[in-house]
Amino acid sequence: MTGLDTRVSAALRQRFAAELAPRFDRGWADAFAAVPRHLFVPRFYTQADDRSWRAVNCGDPGYLETIYSNQALTTQLDEQGIPTSSSSEPALMLEMLDALDAQEGDTVFELGTGTGYNAALLSHRLGDDNVTSLDVDPFLVETAAHRLETAGYRPFTTTGDGARGWSQRAPYSRIIATAALRALPAAFLDQAAPGAVIVAPIGYGVLRATVTDPGHATGWFLPTPAHFMPRRAPTTAPAFDAARSVKPTDTKVAPGNVLDHLRFPLSIALPGHSSCSWRDDDGALTAVGLWTEDGSTATAHVSGAVRQVGPRRLWDVVEDLAAIFHAVPRRNEFRVTITPSRQTVWYNAPGGPAWELLGGGAS
Ligand SMILES: C[S@@+](CC[C@H](N)C(=O)[O-])C[C@H]1O[C@@H](n2cnc3c(N)ncnc32)[C@H](O)[C@@H]1O
Repeated sequence: MTGLDTRVSAALRQRFAAELAPRFDRGWADAFAAVPRHLFVPRFYTQADDRSWRAVNCGDPGYLETIYSNQALTTQLDEQGIPTSSSSEPALMLEMLDALDAQEGDTVFELGTGTGYNAALLSHRLGDDNVTSLDVDPFLVETAAHRLETAGYRPFTTTGDGARGWSQRAPYSRIIATAALRALPAAFLDQAAPGAVIVAPIGYGVLRATVTDPGHATGWFLPTPAHFMPRRAPTTAPAFDAARSVKPTDTKVAPGNVLDHLRFPLSIALPGHSSCSWRDDDGALTAVGLWTEDGSTATAHVSGAVRQVGPRRLWDVVEDLAAIFHAVPRRNEFRVTITPSRQTVWYNAPGGPAWELLGGGAS
């Protein structure tokens, strides 16, 4: 465990909170100034150019300066070196907490305890009894609970799939997810109090919705880009071998940087999709690949040759989006309407391009 809070860490934290806070509510600035992030992140991992990971521990040179800077920090890796938990970028945490608009007396459910740092900020502001935080990883929950206690906070923490919420302490007047979802889980709506505010990363954006009636909510995306770890679920391998054997068709939407340019709308239109790129020995892009869990796979070569297999023609979706979005769209031009039977994201105005969010239920 990291040593106690010292004059140095307290001074760095005060400066960090002052730099983060000017645009936001005073209460959150005070919480960031008070809660020692280093107690929750005694070790983080940085990735070198060769993609190997290096642990940075409390006491290492630069450790405290990095902790009290606006950086997302990887805190857990699986056996393959894939990050499985992190302490999110503080400015984004602050923006999400601000959007949550939690006031004294609000009860909050958090999906994704992770290090416990966000649960500590919530407890600082709203009181331990009003905070329920859950993570799918029991080791993280136990470690976070211990660190929370060391920092003087005792919110309710537990293990489970956040997509099921935690009905035992519902209803919640505020719900926040800190892992990326494909749609709002039905449990969030079921366990929300009337008028509740829900803030959750969906695809590469953050949705802020208000519950209007039981099972119904409306909202919009915050302007800020967000790249959260996806809610943990089984992954599917791409069908590149099968794609190689189909006859190619031509596309006018050459791969180039189209997947970057369409990053957010693609994350809404093809929830949970994965992508990759191939490059030649000089580093020039030669092709991109796209796949989804139902086995659909597409490859697009810079020559314009496209190969698609599986139930959905994924490159057709890219072409449709490229026809709508000639430039990177602003996230806050996307609105959301939620009913018990469907969750619709629409662009610009009702009647404009729209996509249905799927996959909100617990698996
Ligand atoms: C970005 S981290 C959360 C950061 C955390 N709020 C903090 O302050 O450190 C995302 C977390 O979501 C958790 N997670 C992933 N899938 C989940 C699920 N289905 N239910 C609950 N937690 C999940 C991961 O284990 C990970 O700890």
